[in-house]
Amino acid sequence: MNSIKSIRLPLVFVVVLLFLSASTFSSRSQQPKDFEKQIDALLRKMTLAEKLGQLQQLDGEANGNFRPEHLELVRQGSLGSTLNVRGAQKTNELQRIAVTASRLKIPLIFGFDVIHGYRTVFPIPLGEAATWDPAAVERSASIAAAEARAAGVHWTFAPMVDIARDPRWGRIAEGSGEDPYLGSLLARARVRGFQGTDYSAPDKVVACAKHWVAYGAAEAGRDYNTTEVSERTLREVYFPPFKAAVDAGVGTFMSAFNDLNGVPASANHFTLTEVLRDEWKFDGFVVSDYTSVEELMKHGVAANEAEAARAALDAGVDMEMVSRLYNKHGEQLLKDRKLSLKTIDEAVRRVLRIKFRLGLFAKPYADPARESAAIFNSANVAAAREIAARSLVLLKNDRNVLPLDKPVRSIALIGPLADSKTNMLGSWTGDGKPEDAATLLVGLKAKVPQAKINYAKGCDINSDKDDGFAEAVRAAKESDVVIIAVGESAEMSGEAASRSSLDLPGRQLELVKAVHATGKPYVVVLMNGRPLTINWLTENSPAILETWFAGTQGGNAIADVLFGDVNPGGKLPVTFPRNVGQIPLYYNHKNTGRPPDANNKYTSKYLDVDWKPLFPFGFGLSYTRFEIANLKLSAPRISASGQLIVSVDVRNLGPRAGDEVVQLYIRDVAASVTRPVKELKGFQRVTLAAGETKRVEFVLGAAQLGFWNQQMRYGIEPGEFMVMVGPNSEQLIEAKFAVE
Ligand code: BGC
Repeated sequence: MNSIKSIRLPLVFVVVLLFLSASTFSSRSQQPKDFEKQIDALLRKMTLAEKLGQLQQLDGEANGNFRPEHLELVRQGSLGSTLNVRGAQKTNELQRIAVTASRLKIPLIFGFDVIHGYRTVFPIPLGEAATWDPAAVERSASIAAAEARAAGVHWTFAPMVDIARDPRWGRIAEGSGEDPYLGSLLARARVRGFQGTDYSAPDKVVACAKHWVAYGAAEAGRDYNTTEVSERTLREVYFPPFKAAVDAGVGTFMSAFNDLNGVPASANHFTLTEVLRDEWKFDGFVVSDYTSVEELMKHGVAANEAEAARAALDAGVDMEMVSRLYNKHGEQLLKDRKLSLKTIDEAVRRVLRIKFRLGLFAKPYADPARESAAIFNSANVAAAREIAARSLVLLKNDRNVLPLDKPVRSIALIGPLADSKTNMLGSWTGDGKPEDAATLLVGLKAKVPQAKINYAKGCDINSDKDDGFAEAVRAAKESDVVIIAVGESAEMSGEAASRSSLDLPGRQLELVKAVHATGKPYVVVLMNGRPLTINWLTENSPAILETWFAGTQGGNAIADVLFGDVNPGGKLPVTFPRNVGQIPLYYNHKNTGRPPDANNKYTSKYLDVDWKPLFPFGFGLSYTRFEIANLKLSAPRISASGQLIVSVDVRNLGPRAGDEVVQLYIRDVAASVTRPVKELKGFQRVTLAAGETKRVEFVLGAAQLGFWNQQMRYGIEPGEFMVMVGPNSEQLIEAKFAVE
């Protein structure tokens, strides 16, 4: 402690401009047009009921239809938006009422959860994150946007940018994993993909950064649960992907279900107004999560509906999803002077601003001719296959079992996920249809048409029956090689899908053991929406391929990788623990005063399990081998406003081309507050031919080296830093430099 003080006290804390420093990104990709005069004119004409109407969003039917009551509400000007209504015909029908029969002809904005694809379904977001390829993620979002807009959808409730350090939480599947830097780059990529530079374009939608904020910090991983997060952790871990979304020009935010430090996120003035509007200058609108305004009563911060409406509106929630408290109580709240007209006008202004930016006043309708051409076309399907293949992570490959030989005579394909179309698509399927999905069985048949495929389901995903084992074992014995697809059902992750165990559900592990006992070579293909505790597989199975839920083209993409047409290059965007008791387990933890030491009892560890993960963040193998060496820094020391160039050689040592994700981590060795043992601050996914070497460069500066000090100001402190580079968060080569 003393030595830290003696290093630190004489040194100046360099404060960097807040607006620039709080994020890695400083430039907006979109300069929105100014519609304020038109909005002023409209606001002058609007009645209070019409204003409150703009703040109301109601749910349609699951099949995409609107509800009969919507027609009248739209005609009266009492409904500004719907969710789930989709399809050119259905949206146009309702829109026609809004723009021809309502008094002020304000168009509706149609929202929908286009999370990992509209009709063409891409890998779940956690899977896309495993690509470590922002360009691929942007492309996926861009295709989803084109399909959605063609179907009359203007607004997606994505990206979900919640950092999640607890795999029990089912919604870890919907985000980019545990890391704020990777999460920020992918947040930006998704916003760009959805919105482009101008979301009035016929192939773009406005995006929604959700769930603001710290929803992923739910205690015990139980969905909707309480969160307690310090301001520093909010700013360093949970905020950055949201800030990246704002910097990329995201048009909307969604306020979360959870309470945060005692104040529900949907009534939280600090996060919704002080940070989002005042600090970050966000000028779009905030929609509540589904009935989260009404839920303020259950949280116990509102005694009745009127108080809930007031609390949410005052805090900065502009549009109310599904519950109707603004509309029910807005007028009375105004009369009682509990709410100001200014607050309502401001909320309406923000909603109208986005409607203008979407071009809805000029072009309110979807074009049915576009719809059929844009949706699920062959280019989109091909992209889904490519991106899915990039998302697969090879966790183990003993004695190069993989890739499999194409001239194989017979393959046993076993497991409850080997031919399940619904599960292949994952938890948010948009308008995706199970019949579109290529399962692994379909993929194998297409990949090796000459091979005899002995398919046996073996067991269900989650049942106690083993009556299919005998057939599975027979199939294995009769075949040259076995592929066994196990994991979770799609509905075991996503919303309201928390688990207290991360083991393979049901009797699937026993199924694998039964196959293992045959002595046949086999490969485990995992499908799941979260890290699983797969210790036995890791110790005993020859090969493991993590495939998440890979979407419409999942089976083809997996077959591409299993047979070596694609060399896997994905990396884990999240730590895989050994058991649930280790959770939360994440790579960017603090060192503690007693870091774990196997030879010293009184250090931070467990009696009954290793402190280390089963697979670390950033981990993933390839069919080739890489070497990362020759770490060089452009200087031994830099000034606080200076830049450092870090470079390494990456060499492909193996016989085939492949991708390596070179990862750069930093550590501030001694600072005025404790710093993580490592923090990802750069990565590049590079493709190298057999024998090829590439020099990879990273730039470090204020945005990467700073943190929030005790006074909650952002800046860099002079002193020693470590820089670490490698193929995952554990196998690192390191060097030191100083900031003066
Ligand atoms: C989810 C959101 C989603 C919304 C609309 C809520 O239950 O939390 O993520 O966007 O429903 O479907």
